[in-house]
Amino acid sequence: MGHETAFKPYRIKVVEPVSALTAEERRARLEAAAYNGFNLRSSDVYIDLLTDSGTGALSQAQWAAMMQGDESYAGSRSYERFRAVADDIFGFRYVLPTHQGRAAENVLFSAAVRAGHVVPSNMHFDTTRGNVLANGGTPVDCVIDDAYDPRVDHPFKGNMDIAKLERVLDEVGVERVPFVMITITNNGGGGQPVSMANLREVSRVAHARGLKLIIDACRYAENAFFIREREPGYAQAAPVDIAREMFSLADGMTMSAKKDGLANIGGILAMNDTALFERARERLILMEGFTSYGGLAGRDLDCIAVGLVEALDVGYLADRVGETRYLGSRLRDAGVPILEPVGGHAVFIDASRILPTFPQALFPAQAVTNALYLEGGVRAVEIGSVMFAHEDAQGRAVYPKLELVRLAIPRRVYLREHFDAVAEAAARVCEGRDRLPGYRIVEGSGPLRHFVARFEPVARP
Ligand code: F0G
Repeated sequence: MGHETAFKPYRIKVVEPVSALTAEERRARLEAAAYNGFNLRSSDVYIDLLTDSGTGALSQAQWAAMMQGDESYAGSRSYERFRAVADDIFGFRYVLPTHQGRAAENVLFSAAVRAGHVVPSNMHFDTTRGNVLANGGTPVDCVIDDAYDPRVDHPFKGNMDIAKLERVLDEVGVERVPFVMITITNNGGGGQPVSMANLREVSRVAHARGLKLIIDACRYAENAFFIREREPGYAQAAPVDIAREMFSLADGMTMSAKKDGLANIGGILAMNDTALFERARERLILMEGFTSYGGLAGRDLDCIAVGLVEALDVGYLADRVGETRYLGSRLRDAGVPILEPVGGHAVFIDASRILPTFPQALFPAQAVTNALYLEGGVRAVEIGSVMFAHEDAQGRAVYPKLELVRLAIPRRVYLREHFDAVAEAAARVCEGRDRLPGYRIVEGSGPLRHFVARFEPVARP
Protein backbone atom coordinates (compact mmCIF):
# COMPACT_ATOMS: atom_id res chain seq x y z
CA MET A 1 0.00 0.00 0.00
CA GLY A 2 1.59 3.26 -1.12
CA HIS A 3 1.30 6.44 0.89
CA GLU A 4 0.96 8.95 -1.92
CA THR A 5 0.77 12.59 -0.93
CA ALA A 6 -2.83 13.58 -0.32
CA PHE A 7 -4.39 16.99 -0.93
CA LYS A 8 -4.70 18.86 2.38
CA PRO A 9 -7.65 21.26 2.29
CA TYR A 10 -6.43 23.55 5.10
CA ARG A 11 -3.29 24.93 6.70
CA ILE A 12 -2.62 25.71 10.35
CA LYS A 13 -3.11 29.17 11.84
CA VAL A 14 -3.34 28.44 15.57
CA VAL A 15 -1.40 25.69 17.30
CA GLU A 16 -1.97 23.90 20.59
CA PRO A 17 1.30 22.76 22.16
CA VAL A 18 1.51 19.14 23.25
CA SER A 19 4.26 17.46 25.20
CA ALA A 20 5.29 13.88 25.65
CA LEU A 21 6.17 12.29 28.94
CA THR A 22 8.99 9.77 29.28
CA ALA A 23 8.15 6.08 29.37
CA GLU A 24 8.89 6.08 33.10
CA GLU A 25 6.53 8.99 33.74
CA ARG A 26 3.78 7.33 31.68
CA ARG A 27 4.11 4.18 33.74
CA ALA A 28 3.60 6.20 36.94
CA ARG A 29 0.66 8.17 35.51
CA LEU A 30 -1.10 5.04 34.27
CA GLU A 31 -0.70 3.37 37.64
CA ALA A 32 -2.05 6.50 39.37
CA ALA A 33 -4.98 6.42 36.90
CA ALA A 34 -5.73 2.84 38.03
CA TYR A 35 -5.03 1.61 34.47
CA ASN A 36 -8.06 3.39 33.02
CA GLY A 37 -7.45 6.02 30.31
CA PHE A 38 -10.56 7.95 31.38
CA ASN A 39 -8.69 8.77 34.60
CA LEU A 40 -5.65 10.24 32.79
CA ARG A 41 -5.25 13.97 32.47
CA SER A 42 -5.05 15.24 28.88
CA SER A 43 -1.59 16.60 29.74
CA ASP A 44 -0.45 13.01 30.38
CA VAL A 45 -1.30 12.14 26.76
CA TYR A 46 0.72 12.77 23.59
CA ILE A 47 -1.83 11.69 20.95
CA ASP A 48 -5.43 11.65 22.15
CA LEU A 49 -7.60 9.25 20.17
CA LEU A 50 -10.11 8.63 22.96
CA THR A 51 -12.92 10.12 20.87
CA ASP A 52 -13.72 12.15 17.75
CA SER A 53 -16.56 13.81 19.67
CA GLY A 54 -16.21 17.54 20.29
CA THR A 55 -12.45 17.28 19.89
CA GLY A 56 -12.08 18.78 16.41
CA ALA A 57 -10.47 22.06 15.38
CA LEU A 58 -12.76 24.95 14.45
CA SER A 59 -12.26 26.85 11.20
CA GLN A 60 -11.70 30.60 10.94
CA ALA A 61 -15.23 30.88 9.56
CA GLN A 62 -16.62 29.16 12.67
CA TRP A 63 -14.69 31.44 15.02
CA ALA A 64 -15.84 34.47 13.04
CA ALA A 65 -19.46 33.29 13.14
CA MET A 66 -19.24 32.80 16.90
CA MET A 67 -18.45 36.50 17.32
CA GLN A 68 -21.90 37.16 15.90
CA GLY A 69 -23.62 34.94 18.44
CA ASP A 70 -26.92 36.40 19.61
CA GLU A 71 -27.43 35.41 23.24
CA SER A 72 -31.12 36.36 23.42
CA TYR A 73 -33.16 33.83 25.37
CA ALA A 74 -35.87 33.56 22.72
CA GLY A 75 -35.91 33.95 18.95
CA SER A 76 -32.22 34.73 18.49
CA ARG A 77 -30.64 35.43 15.12
CA SER A 78 -28.22 32.58 15.89
CA TYR A 79 -31.18 30.20 16.02
CA GLU A 80 -32.44 31.54 12.69
CA ARG A 81 -29.07 30.90 11.06
CA PHE A 82 -28.84 27.42 12.62
CA ARG A 83 -32.39 26.68 11.55
CA ALA A 84 -31.84 27.79 7.95
CA VAL A 85 -28.90 25.39 7.55
CA ALA A 86 -30.69 22.52 9.31
CA ASP A 87 -33.76 23.03 7.09
CA ASP A 88 -31.65 23.06 3.97
CA ILE A 89 -29.83 19.79 4.78
CA PHE A 90 -32.29 17.75 6.83
CA GLY A 91 -35.65 19.06 5.65
CA PHE A 92 -37.69 18.10 8.74
CA ARG A 93 -40.64 20.20 9.79
CA TYR A 94 -39.52 20.73 13.40
CA VAL A 95 -35.95 21.29 14.62
CA LEU A 96 -34.84 21.55 18.24
CA PRO A 97 -31.27 22.27 19.38
CA THR A 98 -29.97 20.26 22.34
CA HIS A 99 -26.71 20.45 24.29
CA GLN A 100 -25.44 17.18 22.80
CA GLY A 101 -26.59 13.98 21.10
CA ARG A 102 -27.63 12.04 24.19
CA ALA A 103 -29.83 14.96 25.25
CA ALA A 104 -31.67 14.75 21.91
CA GLU A 105 -32.08 11.01 22.59
CA ASN A 106 -33.34 11.61 26.10
CA VAL A 107 -35.86 14.24 24.96
CA LEU A 108 -37.13 12.02 22.14
CA PHE A 109 -37.21 8.75 24.08
CA SER A 110 -38.80 10.24 27.18
CA ALA A 111 -41.51 11.61 24.87
CA ALA A 112 -42.07 8.40 22.90
CA VAL A 113 -40.69 5.26 24.63
CA ARG A 114 -42.73 3.48 27.33
CA ALA A 115 -42.20 0.38 29.46
CA GLY A 116 -42.49 -2.72 27.27
CA HIS A 117 -41.48 -0.92 24.07
CA VAL A 118 -38.83 -2.33 21.75
CA VAL A 119 -36.60 -0.08 19.63
CA PRO A 120 -34.87 -1.83 16.73
CA SER A 121 -31.79 -0.31 15.09
CA ASN A 122 -28.87 -1.53 13.03
CA MET A 123 -26.77 -1.02 16.20
CA HIS A 124 -27.51 1.30 19.10
CA PHE A 125 -24.64 3.42 20.39
CA ASP A 126 -24.16 3.04 24.17
CA THR A 127 -25.95 6.30 25.09
CA THR A 128 -28.84 5.41 22.75
CA ARG A 129 -29.07 1.99 24.34
CA GLY A 130 -28.88 3.58 27.79
CA ASN A 131 -31.62 6.10 27.01
CA VAL A 132 -33.94 3.41 25.60
CA LEU A 133 -33.37 1.29 28.74
CA ALA A 134 -33.80 4.27 31.08
CA ASN A 135 -37.28 4.81 29.60
CA GLY A 136 -38.30 1.19 30.12
CA GLY A 137 -37.70 0.08 26.52
CA THR A 138 -35.55 -2.69 25.07
CA PRO A 139 -32.96 -1.83 22.41
CA VAL A 140 -32.49 -4.51 19.71
CA ASP A 141 -29.64 -4.59 17.18
CA CYS A 142 -30.46 -5.86 13.68
CA VAL A 143 -27.20 -5.17 11.85
CA ILE A 144 -26.04 -7.65 9.16
CA ASP A 145 -24.02 -10.63 10.50
CA ASP A 146 -20.91 -9.52 8.58
CA ALA A 147 -20.63 -6.59 10.99
CA TYR A 148 -19.46 -9.03 13.66
CA ASP A 149 -16.57 -10.44 11.63
CA PRO A 150 -13.60 -8.03 11.68
CA ARG A 151 -12.02 -9.72 8.64
CA VAL A 152 -14.97 -9.50 6.25
CA ASP A 153 -14.70 -6.71 3.70
CA HIS A 154 -18.11 -5.21 2.92
CA PRO A 155 -18.75 -1.76 1.42
CA PHE A 156 -21.75 -1.11 3.69
CA LYS A 157 -21.06 -3.09 6.82
CA GLY A 158 -23.43 -0.86 8.82
CA ASN A 159 -26.48 -2.07 6.87
CA MET A 160 -29.57 -3.31 8.65
CA ASP A 161 -30.43 -6.97 8.10
CA ILE A 162 -33.95 -6.51 6.69
CA ALA A 163 -35.02 -10.07 7.55
CA LYS A 164 -33.90 -9.59 11.18
CA LEU A 165 -35.80 -6.30 11.35
CA GLU A 166 -38.98 -7.85 9.95
CA ARG A 167 -38.69 -10.76 12.37
CA VAL A 168 -38.39 -8.39 15.35
CA LEU A 169 -41.39 -6.35 14.15
CA ASP A 170 -43.45 -9.53 13.63
CA GLU A 171 -42.53 -10.99 17.01
CA VAL A 172 -42.97 -7.82 19.04
CA GLY A 173 -45.95 -6.36 17.20
CA VAL A 174 -45.99 -2.79 15.91
CA GLU A 175 -47.99 -1.50 18.90
CA ARG A 176 -44.89 -2.03 21.04
CA VAL A 177 -42.48 -0.36 18.62
CA PRO A 178 -42.44 3.45 18.95
CA PHE A 179 -40.18 3.80 15.88
CA VAL A 180 -37.32 2.14 14.01
CA MET A 181 -33.84 3.69 14.30
CA ILE A 182 -30.73 3.52 12.13
CA THR A 183 -27.26 4.81 13.02
CA ILE A 184 -25.20 6.36 10.21
CA THR A 185 -22.35 5.59 10.23
CA ASN A 186 -22.53 2.63 12.60
CA ASN A 187 -20.13 3.66 15.38
CA GLY A 188 -20.47 0.49 17.49
CA GLY A 189 -19.67 -1.67 14.46
CA GLY A 190 -16.55 0.24 13.40
CA GLY A 191 -17.79 3.50 11.85
CA GLN A 192 -19.26 1.53 8.94
CA PRO A 193 -21.65 3.13 6.46
CA VAL A 194 -25.23 2.27 5.54
CA SER A 195 -26.10 2.26 1.82
CA MET A 196 -28.88 4.35 0.30
CA ALA A 197 -30.48 1.14 -0.95
CA ASN A 198 -30.55 -0.25 2.59
CA LEU A 199 -31.93 2.99 4.03
CA ARG A 200 -34.64 2.87 1.37
CA GLU A 201 -35.53 -0.72 2.30
CA VAL A 202 -35.60 0.04 6.04
CA SER A 203 -37.80 3.05 5.33
CA ARG A 204 -40.14 0.93 3.20
CA VAL A 205 -40.43 -1.82 5.84
CA ALA A 206 -41.07 0.68 8.66
CA HIS A 207 -43.58 2.76 6.70
CA ALA A 208 -45.44 -0.30 5.39
CA ARG A 209 -46.29 -1.04 9.02
CA GLY A 210 -47.11 2.54 9.89
CA LEU A 211 -43.88 3.03 11.85
CA LYS A 212 -41.60 6.06 11.80
CA LEU A 213 -37.91 5.89 10.95
CA ILE A 214 -35.51 7.97 13.06
CA ILE A 215 -31.89 8.43 11.95
CA ASP A 216 -29.07 8.70 14.51
CA ALA A 217 -27.20 11.12 12.27
CA CYS A 218 -23.95 11.84 14.19
CA ARG A 219 -21.69 10.96 11.25
CA TYR A 220 -24.16 11.36 8.37
CA ALA A 221 -21.72 13.42 6.24
CA GLU A 222 -19.13 10.62 6.39
CA ASN A 223 -21.91 8.19 5.49
CA ALA A 224 -22.83 10.38 2.47
CA PHE A 225 -19.18 10.35 1.38
CA PHE A 226 -19.07 6.52 1.46
CA ILE A 227 -22.28 6.35 -0.59
CA ARG A 228 -20.75 8.72 -3.14
CA GLU A 229 -17.65 6.57 -3.31
CA ARG A 230 -19.16 3.09 -3.22
CA GLU A 231 -22.78 3.05 -4.35
CA PRO A 232 -23.54 3.02 -8.08
CA GLY A 233 -25.16 6.21 -9.35
CA TYR A 234 -23.76 8.59 -6.73
CA ALA A 235 -20.19 9.24 -7.92
CA GLN A 236 -21.09 12.70 -9.25
CA ALA A 237 -23.59 13.63 -6.56
CA ALA A 238 -22.83 16.40 -4.06
CA PRO A 239 -22.72 15.12 -0.46
CA VAL A 240 -25.47 17.57 0.49
CA ASP A 241 -27.78 16.04 -2.13
CA ILE A 242 -26.98 12.55 -0.88
CA ALA A 243 -27.72 13.78 2.65
CA ARG A 244 -31.06 15.27 1.55
CA GLU A 245 -32.01 11.98 -0.05
CA MET A 246 -31.06 10.00 3.09
CA PHE A 247 -33.12 12.25 5.36
CA SER A 248 -36.08 12.27 2.95
CA LEU A 249 -36.45 8.55 3.74
CA ALA A 250 -36.86 9.24 7.47
CA ASP A 251 -39.35 10.92 9.78
CA GLY A 252 -36.91 12.40 12.24
CA MET A 253 -33.35 12.43 13.53
CA THR A 254 -31.16 12.76 16.58
CA MET A 255 -27.63 14.03 16.17
CA SER A 256 -24.55 14.94 18.13
CA ALA A 257 -23.20 18.12 16.51
CA LYS A 258 -19.86 17.19 18.16
CA LYS A 259 -19.18 14.90 15.22
CA ASP A 260 -20.33 16.00 11.74
CA GLY A 261 -21.49 19.36 13.08
CA LEU A 262 -17.75 20.10 13.52
CA ALA A 263 -18.53 21.77 16.84
CA ASN A 264 -17.17 21.27 20.35
CA ILE A 265 -20.66 20.98 21.80
CA GLY A 266 -24.24 20.67 20.56
CA GLY A 267 -26.96 18.36 19.35
CA ILE A 268 -30.04 18.31 17.15
CA LEU A 269 -33.49 16.71 17.38
CA ALA A 270 -35.74 17.02 14.35
CA MET A 271 -39.00 15.42 13.21
CA ASN A 272 -42.10 15.82 11.05
CA ASP A 273 -44.83 14.60 13.40
CA THR A 274 -46.68 17.43 15.16
CA ALA A 275 -47.95 15.47 18.17
CA LEU A 276 -44.49 14.02 18.83
CA PHE A 277 -42.94 17.46 18.43
CA GLU A 278 -45.32 18.95 20.99
CA ARG A 279 -44.37 16.30 23.54
CA ALA A 280 -40.66 16.68 22.75
CA ARG A 281 -40.88 20.47 23.00
CA GLU A 282 -42.25 20.18 26.52
CA ARG A 283 -39.48 17.76 27.53
CA LEU A 284 -36.89 20.05 25.95
CA ILE A 285 -38.05 23.13 27.85
CA LEU A 286 -38.07 21.11 31.05
CA MET A 287 -34.66 19.46 30.65
CA GLU A 288 -32.57 21.51 28.20
CA GLY A 289 -33.88 25.00 27.71
CA PHE A 290 -36.16 27.07 25.50
CA THR A 291 -36.78 25.85 21.95
CA SER A 292 -34.54 28.44 20.32
CA TYR A 293 -31.37 27.48 22.25
CA GLY A 294 -31.85 24.02 23.82
CA GLY A 295 -29.00 24.15 26.32
CA LEU A 296 -26.55 25.96 24.04
CA ALA A 297 -25.18 29.47 23.84
CA GLY A 298 -26.18 31.47 20.75
CA ARG A 299 -22.57 31.35 19.56
CA ASP A 300 -22.65 27.54 19.67
CA LEU A 301 -25.60 27.56 17.26
CA ASP A 302 -23.61 29.78 14.90
CA CYS A 303 -20.62 27.46 15.21
CA ILE A 304 -22.80 24.47 14.29
CA ALA A 305 -24.49 26.32 11.40
CA VAL A 306 -21.11 26.87 9.75
CA GLY A 307 -19.74 23.45 10.76
CA LEU A 308 -22.65 21.57 9.17
CA VAL A 309 -21.87 23.18 5.83
CA GLU A 310 -18.10 22.66 6.08
CA ALA A 311 -18.54 18.98 6.95
CA LEU A 312 -20.33 18.36 3.64
CA ASP A 313 -17.48 19.71 1.53
CA VAL A 314 -16.08 16.94 -0.66
CA GLY A 315 -12.48 18.09 -0.15
CA TYR A 316 -12.94 18.07 3.61
CA LEU A 317 -14.56 14.62 3.56
CA ALA A 318 -11.89 13.12 1.32
CA ASP A 319 -9.22 14.41 3.71
CA ARG A 320 -11.16 13.20 6.74
CA VAL A 321 -11.76 9.66 5.52
CA GLY A 322 -8.26 9.75 3.97
CA GLU A 323 -6.70 10.30 7.40
CA THR A 324 -8.52 7.34 8.86
CA ARG A 325 -7.45 5.19 5.90
CA TYR A 326 -3.87 6.44 6.21
CA LEU A 327 -3.70 5.33 9.84
CA GLY A 328 -5.34 2.03 8.88
CA SER A 329 -2.83 1.33 6.14
CA ARG A 330 0.13 2.23 8.36
CA LEU A 331 -1.14 -0.20 11.00
CA ARG A 332 -1.76 -2.91 8.38
CA ASP A 333 1.78 -2.38 6.98
CA ALA A 334 3.16 -2.74 10.52
CA GLY A 335 1.37 -6.09 10.90
CA VAL A 336 -1.18 -4.81 13.42
CA PRO A 337 -4.54 -6.61 12.97
CA ILE A 338 -7.40 -4.17 12.40
CA LEU A 339 -11.12 -4.32 11.71
CA GLU A 340 -11.72 -4.23 7.95
CA PRO A 341 -12.67 -2.21 6.09
CA VAL A 342 -11.49 0.96 7.83
CA GLY A 343 -14.50 3.10 8.76
CA GLY A 344 -15.07 6.84 8.72
CA HIS A 345 -14.04 8.20 12.10
CA ALA A 346 -11.83 5.57 13.66
CA VAL A 347 -9.56 2.59 13.17
CA PHE A 348 -10.28 -0.39 15.40
CA ILE A 349 -7.42 -2.68 16.44
CA ASP A 350 -8.49 -6.32 16.78
CA ALA A 351 -7.06 -7.23 20.20
CA SER A 352 -8.21 -10.87 19.96
CA ARG A 353 -5.81 -11.43 17.09
CA ILE A 354 -2.91 -9.79 18.97
CA LEU A 355 -3.61 -11.89 22.07
CA PRO A 356 -5.34 -15.02 20.73
CA THR A 357 -4.86 -17.14 23.85
CA PHE A 358 -5.66 -14.40 26.35
CA PRO A 359 -8.86 -15.18 28.34
CA GLN A 360 -11.57 -12.52 27.91
CA ALA A 361 -11.90 -12.45 31.70
CA LEU A 362 -8.47 -10.74 31.77
CA PHE A 363 -9.57 -7.99 29.35
CA PRO A 364 -7.27 -8.38 26.32
CA ALA A 365 -8.46 -5.13 24.68
CA GLN A 366 -7.78 -3.22 27.90
CA ALA A 367 -4.29 -4.79 27.93
CA VAL A 368 -3.63 -3.49 24.40
CA THR A 369 -5.17 -0.08 25.18
CA ASN A 370 -2.89 0.38 28.19
CA ALA A 371 0.16 -0.91 26.32
CA LEU A 372 -0.45 1.69 23.58
CA TYR A 373 -0.33 4.43 26.17
CA LEU A 374 2.83 3.02 27.74
CA GLU A 375 4.56 2.59 24.35
CA GLY A 376 3.57 5.85 22.68
CA GLY A 377 1.54 8.12 24.96
CA VAL A 378 -1.47 7.26 22.78
CA ARG A 379 -4.89 7.32 24.46
CA ALA A 380 -7.39 4.93 22.84
CA VAL A 381 -10.54 3.37 24.21
CA GLU A 382 -11.38 -0.25 24.93
CA ILE A 383 -14.46 -1.58 23.15
CA GLY A 384 -14.56 -5.12 24.46
CA SER A 385 -15.27 -6.95 27.69
CA VAL A 386 -14.71 -3.96 29.97
CA MET A 387 -17.50 -2.15 28.12
CA PHE A 388 -19.82 -5.04 27.28
CA ALA A 389 -19.26 -8.17 29.42
CA HIS A 390 -22.11 -8.77 31.85
CA GLU A 391 -23.72 -11.54 33.86
CA ASP A 392 -26.76 -13.47 32.69
CA ALA A 393 -29.73 -14.32 34.93
CA GLN A 394 -27.80 -17.32 36.35
CA GLY A 395 -24.83 -15.14 37.22
CA ARG A 396 -22.64 -16.52 34.44
CA ALA A 397 -20.32 -14.14 32.61
CA VAL A 398 -21.38 -13.31 29.04
CA TYR A 399 -18.57 -11.94 26.86
CA PRO A 400 -18.92 -9.83 23.68
CA LYS A 401 -17.98 -11.21 20.24
CA LEU A 402 -15.30 -8.60 19.65
CA GLU A 403 -12.35 -7.34 21.65
CA LEU A 404 -11.49 -4.03 20.00
CA VAL A 405 -9.35 -0.98 20.71
CA ARG A 406 -10.78 2.15 19.07
CA LEU A 407 -8.47 4.84 17.73
CA ALA A 408 -10.94 7.67 17.03
CA ILE A 409 -9.56 10.54 14.99
CA PRO A 410 -10.45 14.11 15.99
CA ARG A 411 -11.35 16.26 12.95
CA ARG A 412 -8.68 18.54 11.45
CA VAL A 413 -6.32 17.99 14.41
CA TYR A 414 -3.48 15.53 13.86
CA LEU A 415 -0.76 15.24 11.22
CA ARG A 416 0.75 12.25 9.46
CA GLU A 417 3.66 12.33 11.94
CA HIS A 418 1.16 11.62 14.69
CA PHE A 419 -0.44 8.74 12.80
CA ASP A 420 3.00 7.29 12.03
CA ALA A 421 3.85 7.45 15.75
CA VAL A 422 0.60 5.64 16.60
CA ALA A 423 1.38 2.86 14.11
CA GLU A 424 4.91 2.51 15.46
CA ALA A 425 3.65 2.30 19.04
CA ALA A 426 1.08 -0.32 18.01
CA ALA A 427 3.78 -2.35 16.25
CA ARG A 428 5.86 -2.34 19.46
CA VAL A 429 2.80 -3.46 21.42
CA CYS A 430 2.46 -6.43 19.05
CA GLU A 431 6.16 -7.29 19.39
CA GLY A 432 5.88 -7.29 23.18
CA ARG A 433 2.55 -9.15 23.23
CA ASP A 434 3.92 -12.01 25.38
CA ARG A 435 4.81 -9.62 28.16
CA LEU A 436 1.42 -7.86 28.45
CA PRO A 437 -0.35 -8.36 31.78
CA GLY A 438 -4.05 -9.01 32.13
CA TYR A 439 -6.31 -6.80 34.24
CA ARG A 440 -8.78 -7.21 37.04
CA ILE A 441 -11.50 -4.69 37.97
CA VAL A 442 -11.11 -3.65 41.59
CA GLU A 443 -13.79 -0.93 41.54
CA GLY A 444 -16.74 -0.05 39.28
CA SER A 445 -19.79 -1.97 38.06
CA GLY A 446 -22.84 -1.68 35.82
CA PRO A 447 -23.21 -0.88 32.13
CA LEU A 448 -21.19 2.36 32.34
CA ARG A 449 -18.35 0.90 34.42
CA HIS A 450 -15.81 1.49 31.64
CA PHE A 451 -15.88 5.23 32.37
CA VAL A 452 -15.04 4.86 36.03
CA ALA A 453 -13.51 1.41 36.63
CA ARG A 454 -10.24 1.02 38.53
CA PHE A 455 -8.00 -1.86 37.49
CA GLU A 456 -5.06 -3.85 38.78
CA PRO A 457 -2.63 -5.70 36.49
CA VAL A 458 -2.57 -9.49 36.97
CA ALA A 459 -0.11 -12.05 35.68
CA ARG A 460 -1.38 -14.26 32.85
CA PRO A 461 -1.99 -17.92 33.72
N1 F0G B 1 -24.94 8.33 18.74
C1 F0G B 1 -23.73 7.92 18.28
C2 F0G B 1 -23.66 7.01 17.10
C3 F0G B 1 -22.55 8.35 18.91
O1 F0G B 1 -21.37 7.94 18.45
C4 F0G B 1 -22.65 9.23 20.03
C5 F0G B 1 -21.45 9.69 20.75
C6 F0G B 1 -23.93 9.63 20.45
C7 F0G B 1 -25.04 9.17 19.78
C8 F0G B 1 -24.12 10.55 21.62
O2 F0G B 1 -23.70 11.85 21.34
O3 F0G B 1 -21.78 12.29 22.91
O4 F0G B 1 -23.04 14.17 21.83
O5 F0G B 1 -24.09 12.82 23.61
N2 F0G B 1 -20.32 9.18 20.61
C9 F0G B 1 -19.07 9.60 21.21
C10 F0G B 1 -18.00 8.58 20.91
C11 F0G B 1 -19.13 9.93 22.66
O6 F0G B 1 -16.90 8.68 21.50
O7 F0G B 1 -18.22 7.70 20.08
P1 F0G B 1 -23.12 12.82 22.49
